[in-house]
Parts: sequence; C-alpha cells; structure tokens
Amino acid sequence: MKAIVLSNYGSPDQLELKDIEKPIPKDGEVLVKVHATTINDWDWCLVRGSPFYIRLFCGWRKPNIRVPGVEMAGQVETVGQNVIEFQPGDTVYSDISESGFGGFAEYVCVPETALAPMPEGMTFTEAAAIPHAAMLAIQGLIDAGQLQPGQRLLINGAGGGVGTLGVQIANAVGVQDVTGIDRASKFTLMRSVGFTHTIDYTQTDFTTGQERYDVILDTKTNRSPFKYLSVLNPGGTYVTVGGLTPRLFQVLLFGPMIRWLTQKSVRLVSLRPNKDLAYVNELWAAGQLKPAIDGPYSMNEVPRLIQYFGTGQHQGKVVVTHES
Ligand SMILES: NC(=O)c1ccc[n+]([C@@H]2O[C@H](COP(=O)([O-])OP(=O)(O)OC[C@H]3O[C@@H](n4cnc5c(N)ncnc54)[C@H](OP(=O)(O)O)[C@@H]3O)[C@@H](O)[C@H]2O)c1
Repeated sequence: MKAIVLSNYGSPDQLELKDIEKPIPKDGEVLVKVHATTINDWDWCLVRGSPFYIRLFCGWRKPNIRVPGVEMAGQVETVGQNVIEFQPGDTVYSDISESGFGGFAEYVCVPETALAPMPEGMTFTEAAAIPHAAMLAIQGLIDAGQLQPGQRLLINGAGGGVGTLGVQIANAVGVQDVTGIDRASKFTLMRSVGFTHTIDYTQTDFTTGQERYDVILDTKTNRSPFKYLSVLNPGGTYVTVGGLTPRLFQVLLFGPMIRWLTQKSVRLVSLRPNKDLAYVNELWAAGQLKPAIDGPYSMNEVPRLIQYFGTGQHQGKVVVTHES
C-alpha cells in the first residue's frame, strides 16, 4: 500500500511517498481502508521533532512513528478476532493519535474501541475533519469550561479546526455571543460558521480591551495566565488546549493559586481522543455541526500541506483524500 513515511526529524520535505506492507489487524483491531485524513499540529511537531517533549514519546533521535496522520475516515476492510461492534463495509472515523497514528496510509489498523460509526449523510472528507478538533473543543468548552446557555465566549486562535467547530458546539449549547480572534484574512470563514465578533490579533490585543467574557477557549496560549484574568467576568474560566510550552506550564503551576485568590479558573485540557464522538453524531443528526474544510487535497501534497499548516496559512481543517 502507499503511505507517507517519516524516517528522520527535520522538515516536511523529507517525508516520502512509499510502498509499504499492508498491516494485519490483531485481536480487537479493525483494518480500515482510509478514504480521508487531515493535517494537524501533531504532524507539524512530529515531523520536526519539536517542541522537545514530542521526542520523549516519539523517539529521541529518530521518530518511532513511521506513518504520521492523526485523523481518518474510511471503510472497514477486515476485522481481527474478538471484534464485536464493526464488520466489513462499515464506515468509521477516529482520532488515531493514541493508537499509533497512520492516517497518511491507504490502510490502518485501529482498535475497535477507538472507532465511531460515521452518521448518515456525513462524507469521508467531513468525517476526517472532525474527531481531533471537535474533542478538543467539546472537552475545552463543556468539560473544562462548563459553558452555560447565554454566556459570552471568546475563542483565541479561532480560524483553525478547534475554533470553527468550537463556535458551532457553543451555539448548540445555547451560547450565541462568540468572539473569535485570528488574522483578518480568516474572518469571512469565521463569520460563516457562527462567530458574532472578530478581532485581528495582529492589530489588537484582546487582553487589554474593555470587553469581558465568561469563558475563554485558547488554541494558541502565548501570554501569562494572569493576562487573561483581566478580561474574564467574575467566576469566569480560561481554558487552554495548546500554545507555548512555558505558558502551558504556568497554567498548570498557577492554576490552583489563581482559583483560590480570584475565584476565576485557568485550566489546561488533556485530550481524551474520541470520548465524545457519540455526542458529535447527535449534533450532526440535528444539523448543528459542519466542519469548515480547506481542500480536499491529494496524498502526494502532504509534505507541502504540513508546511502550509505549520505556517498558519490554512483555514478550518486541511483534508487529504486517498484516491484509489
Ligand atoms: N491539550 C491536548 O491534549 C492537545 C492535543 C493535541 C493538540 N493540542 C493543541 O490543540 C491546538 C489545536 O488547535 P487547532 O487545530 O484549531 O489549530 P490551528 O488549526 O492551527 O488553528 C489555530 C489558529 O490560530 C491562529 N493563530 C496563530 N497565532 C495566533 C495568535 N497569536 N493569536 C490568535 N490566533 C493565532 C492561526 O492562524 P495564523 O497562524 O495564520 O495566524 C490559526 O488560524 C494546538 O495548539 C495543538 O497543539 C492539544
């Protein structure tokens, strides 16, 4: 089968499209023919081996992950022993970051516990664009942020996957007043998915403004946690899903003290892949969730697309399809 193979850390250019052996499903695993996958921050970090802590999990000198690719949507080809829920022909989707990655290949083996059935009417392109960013958004807004109907929400780094799905999840919860922070070139897309206010971070620092929010969801934490407190309403919550490593450590370190001193919360989400896909399927069936798609592109464009993603040129989710 064809796959995009990672042999060394470096730049996306050194990824190679190769023929490798088709995997065989073990006990409890399902072999999926991948129809669509996406580009994520994981790929950008994994290919470069940066930030350093990536190497603690993925190999210090050389990557021990041969085929990157975090999300996939496809069709079950065969099942291993003791697989109960799925059978050949089923259409499935998943975040496979905890099951060895591999979305950039024509086939991948995935534990059945990591798979969800694709709901009726969802295309492979749409399904691939959902699991990773939607789980970060749901676990950030609902689990950590405890978002309530009628609250005011701000999403920082709003024009990518988490932001464009997060605003729709907020709307489903009953939150209509949603401010999105990103570059002005992404505002048309952001407004089309539900942002009511937009702020260009290259022009304005929202942490020095007059507006106040009940919940802030951040995909790009690049300030001290104390800066965000000034724009939170009393009792408000700041939730980060990612950003600069030292800033994330500050959230962990100062979080308890901030809660004690100010009654405001600062929290860091630790992703639980695929946990809320059943909820996503409910939102889909109710017509409340539609991913914003950049693409679809083809497999041989993956190296260029990782660079495109890493330099922030994308809008919504960058999707790659595997033509057969
Ligand atoms: N917590 C966990 O367990 C976990 C697991 C996996 C991933 N993550 C993290 O979750 C996040 C995923 O978010 P995503 O997929 O939505 O990312 P994304 O698609 O890259 O979107 C982020 C957006 O933020 C914009 N941006 C860049 N710098 C900014 C700034 N200073 N202020 C405001 N906006 C800025 C980017 O645009 P421009 O660059 O064009 O400006 C981009 O549109 C990443 O941080 C990733 O590392 C967390």
